[in-house]
Amino acid sequence: MEAQSPRLGTFGRLHRLLRSNWITSFGMALMTLSVLALITLVVMHMMGGAWAGPYVGLLTTLIVPLVFVLGLVLVPLGLFLYRKRLAERVAAMSDKPMHLARAVVVLTAVNFAAVGTVGYTGVHYMGSVEFCGKACHSVMEPEYVSFQRSPHQRVDCVKCHVAPGAQGFVESKINGTKQLLGVITGDYHRPIPTPVHNLVPASQTCEQCHWPEKYLGTKLKVKPHFRTDEKVSGYTNVLLMHTGGTRPDGASVGIHWHVHPDAKVEYVATDAARTQIPWLRVVRTDGTQRIYTKTGVPAEPRPAGELRTMDCNDCHNRSAHAFELPGDALDVAFSNAILPRDLSFLKQRALAALEAEWTRETAADGIRQHLQAAYAKDGALSEPVRQKLEVVSKEVAAIWLRNVWPERKLGWNSYPDLATHFGCFRCHDGDHKAADGHTVFGPLLQESGAPVRDASCDRCHMVLSENEEDPAVLDAFGLKR
Ligand code: HEC
Ligand code: HEC
Ligand code: HEC
Ligand code: HEC
Ligand code: HEC
Repeated sequence: MEAQSPRLGTFGRLHRLLRSNWITSFGMALMTLSVLALITLVVMHMMGGAWAGPYVGLLTTLIVPLVFVLGLVLVPLGLFLYRKRLAERVAAMSDKPMHLARAVVVLTAVNFAAVGTVGYTGVHYMGSVEFCGKACHSVMEPEYVSFQRSPHQRVDCVKCHVAPGAQGFVESKINGTKQLLGVITGDYHRPIPTPVHNLVPASQTCEQCHWPEKYLGTKLKVKPHFRTDEKVSGYTNVLLMHTGGTRPDGASVGIHWHVHPDAKVEYVATDAARTQIPWLRVVRTDGTQRIYTKTGVPAEPRPAGELRTMDCNDCHNRSAHAFELPGDALDVAFSNAILPRDLSFLKQRALAALEAEWTRETAADGIRQHLQAAYAKDGALSEPVRQKLEVVSKEVAAIWLRNVWPERKLGWNSYPDLATHFGCFRCHDGDHKAADGHTVFGPLLQESGAPVRDASCDRCHMVLSENEEDPAVLDAFGLKR
C-alpha cells in the first residue's frame, strides 16, 4: 500500500484513486489525449488549407469523441473491476473527510458539457454537405459531383435523404452507421442499387419546398441534337410540355396530375428496378378506384411485389444526381459551342473515345491520345488542328470524368432518368387497361421501344418540331440560333 500524504486535497486524492488500476489509468489517458487532440485539430481546422478538409472534420467530430467516450467508459469499468483495490485506497485515505461525491459531480458535469458540445457540433457537421459528400469520398463522389451541377446544389443532402424530426434523425443514424461499416469493410453494392427503396417519401422532403398542386402550366422545351456525320449537322426538337398542376378552378391537369391531392396512383413493380409495372390503380379520395393491368394480367389477386404510391421521385429520380448519356452530353457541349463543329466527325469520334474503357487515372490522357490517333488517320495533324484537339480532349475527358466511376461500377446509363419516355412508358404504353375498357393513354411501342405516333403524343406535350435542322417555330419565338 502506498504511503499517503496528509496534505492531499480532494482532487489529489481523486487522482490517486483513479490511478489505482491500469484500466482506469488508460481511460484517463485516452480522455486527456483526445481533449488535447481535439483542441489541436479545431485550431488546425480553423487555419484552413488541407486541414479544413472533410477528413479532419471526420476526426474532430467522430473519431476523437469516440476515443473520449471510450475513455469515459473505461474509467468506471476499471474502478469496478478492481473495486477491492479501490476500497483499500479509500480506506487508507479516510483519515480526513473527502468531498469525493462533490468532486465526482463536478467532473461529470465537465465531461457532459464537453461531450455535449462536441456531440452537438458533430451532429451539425454530420448534416452538412461536406460530411455527406466528401467524408466517404470515393463512395459518394459520383453523387457529390452530380449534385454540384444540379438545380439543388444549395440544398443540404439531408433535406432530401433524412425525414424531418427526431425519428428521421435516429433512423438516418442507424442507416448511416451500417453504411459507414460497409464503407470501412468495402462491403457495399457497386453500383449502389436504385431506386433507393428506403428513400424518405417526397411528402417529407421535396414537398417541404415544392407544393404539388402548384400550377406550372405549359413550358417550352428546346432540345438541340447533333448527328455523327462528317459535318456534325444539327437538328432541334421543340416541345411544349404540359406540366400542368392544379388550376385555379381546382381541376388537376397535365403531367403533374399524378401528385394532385384528390387521387393517388399506386402500382406494383415486379422487379427491384421498378421497370416492369403490370398492375396499377388510381384511388380517389371519394373512395372510388380503377385498376389497370397489362394484357394477360388479372386485376385480382394483385401481383406479388411492393405496392408503391407514386410521388415526385417516380419521375424526378435524378433531381440532384443527373448522370448524362454520352450523346446528350456532347449535344449540350456542341450547342453551347464548348465543342467546335468544324472538326470532321467530331461527335462520332468523341463518342468512341467516351465509350472506350478507361480508369479515372487514365481517362484524361487516354481520351487525348484516342482523339489524336483518330485525326492522325486523316493525314498529318496541322498545328491549328493539334491545338484545337488539346482543348477538345479536355472537354471530352471532363464529360467522362463527371459520369463514369469504374470502381463503383457506375457507367453510362447506370442511373437512367425517369422523367423521360423510358420512365413514362412503363405505364403509358397503351397496354394498361381497366375492366371497363378504360386505357392509360399512350402510344403503342415498337420492338425497338420507339413509340408509334398517334393522338396520345399530344397529351404530354405538343411536338412543335422534330428532327428539323432549322425549325420555323423557333423563328416564331424569336429563338433562331
Ligand atoms: C433534391 C434532393 C436531393 C439532394 C439535395 C441530394 N439527394 Fe441524393 N438522392 C436523391 C434522390 C431522389 C435519390 C434516389 C434516386 C433513385 O432512387 O433513383 C438520391 C440518391 C442518392 C444516392 C444513391 C445512389 C444514386 O445515385 O441514386 C446517394 C449515394 C446519394 N443520393 C447521396 C447524396 C449526397 C452525398 C448528397 C449531398 C451532396 C445528396 N445525395 C443530395 C435526392 C437528393
Ligand atoms: C430545400 C428546398 C428544396 C427541396 C427540399 C427540394 N427542392 Fe427542388 N428546387 C428547389 C429550388 C429552390 C429550385 C429552383 C432552382 C433553380 O431554379 O435554380 C428547385 C428546382 C426543382 C426542379 C426543377 C429543375 C430544373 O431543372 O428546373 C425540380 C424538378 C425539382 N426541384 C424537384 C425536386 C424533387 C423531386 C425534390 C425531392 C427529392 C426536391 N425538388 C427537393 C428547392 C428544393
Ligand atoms: C409523372 C411524372 C412526374 C411526377 C410524379 C412529378 N413530376 Fe414534376 N415534372 C415532370 C415532367 C415530365 C416535367 C417537365 C420536365 C421538363 O420540362 O423538362 C416536370 C416539371 C417539374 C418542375 C419544373 C417546372 C418548370 O416549369 O420549370 C418542377 C419544379 C417539378 N416538376 C417538381 C415536381 C415535384 C415537387 C413533384 C412532386 C410533388 C413532381 N414534380 C412530380 C414529371 C413529373
Ligand atoms: C405508375 C404508372 C404511371 C407512370 C410511370 C406515369 N403515369 Fe401518367 N398517368 C398514369 C395514370 C394511371 C393516369 C390516369 C389515366 C387516366 O385517367 O386516363 C395518368 C395520367 C397522365 C396524364 C393525364 C392527366 C390528365 O390531364 O388527365 C398525363 C399528361 C400523364 N399521365 C403524363 C405522364 C408522364 C409525362 C409520365 C412520365 C414522366 C407519366 N405520366 C408516368 C400512370 C402513370
Ligand atoms: C406519357 C407522356 C408522353 C407521351 C405519351 C409521349 N411523350 Fe414524348 N416526351 C415525354 C417526356 C416526359 C419527354 C422528355 C422531355 C425532356 O427531355 O425533358 C418527352 C420527349 C420527347 C421528345 C424530345 C426528345 C429529345 O430528347 O429531343 C420527342 C421528339 C418526343 N417526346 C416525341 C414524342 C412522340 C412522337 C410521341 C408519340 C408517339 C410521344 N413523344 C409521346 C412524354 C411523353
